[in-house]
Amino acid sequence: MPIIAPSLLAADFLHLADECTLINNSEADWLHLDVMDGRFVPNISFGLPVIEQVRMVCTKTLDVHLMIEEPEKYTEAFAKAGANILTVHIEACRNLHRNIQQIKALGMKAGVAVNPHTPIHLLTDIIGDIDLVNLMSVNPGFGGQQFIPYTLEKIKQLKQLISERQLQVEIEIDGGVTEHNAATILAAGATVLVAGSSVFKSNDPIDSIARLKRM
Ligand code: DX5
Ligand code: ZN
Repeated sequence: MPIIAPSLLAADFLHLADECTLINNSEADWLHLDVMDGRFVPNISFGLPVIEQVRMVCTKTLDVHLMIEEPEKYTEAFAKAGANILTVHIEACRNLHRNIQQIKALGMKAGVAVNPHTPIHLLTDIIGDIDLVNLMSVNPGFGGQQFIPYTLEKIKQLKQLISERQLQVEIEIDGGVTEHNAATILAAGATVLVAGSSVFKSNDPIDSIARLKRM
């Protein structure tokens, strides 16, 4: 069964405690948290104080997706805030290998995110050092966008790279995931589905999560 990671970006920010309780009571495996700095992406979301508070009520794995420049400056702060998985963008890191070691030394799982324009072959050397690849299936910065179809080809390439090396690396798909395309995404080789709008904007988020889980 896939790992389901609802994205808090699409939640009701005036009722975050209720939204966390909903996730706790659902079949979600992780809670995906999108941190944006207005520099790496053209939007600003939420940061450390919000994640600290979410940590106090959320019982699920916190999957923190940093869409920020110079993420190495904040690794320790996100560990303290309660992140379990910390994902940095390949496009934002000058010293990616060092940053990955830093994340792991702080006891977190390490992820690398790649934008839609970034080819899979750039992961060839780092793949053996990481726990997760976040394949962006939209341009990062906003929820509610359309899934970019050529992501399916990239999932297959990444799956090939991981199995050639006999590694255990999660393939997380982020952006535009719905009940309509989830089966195709999983068939291509994805193991983690991030879903913002299709969960939190649905009439019954608990049921939407359960349906994704059963894809
Ligand atoms: C986009 C974020 C995504 C976003 C997904 O920059 O990384 O995690 O929350 O939202 P949906 O599922 O609405 O496309
Ligand atoms: Zn994300």
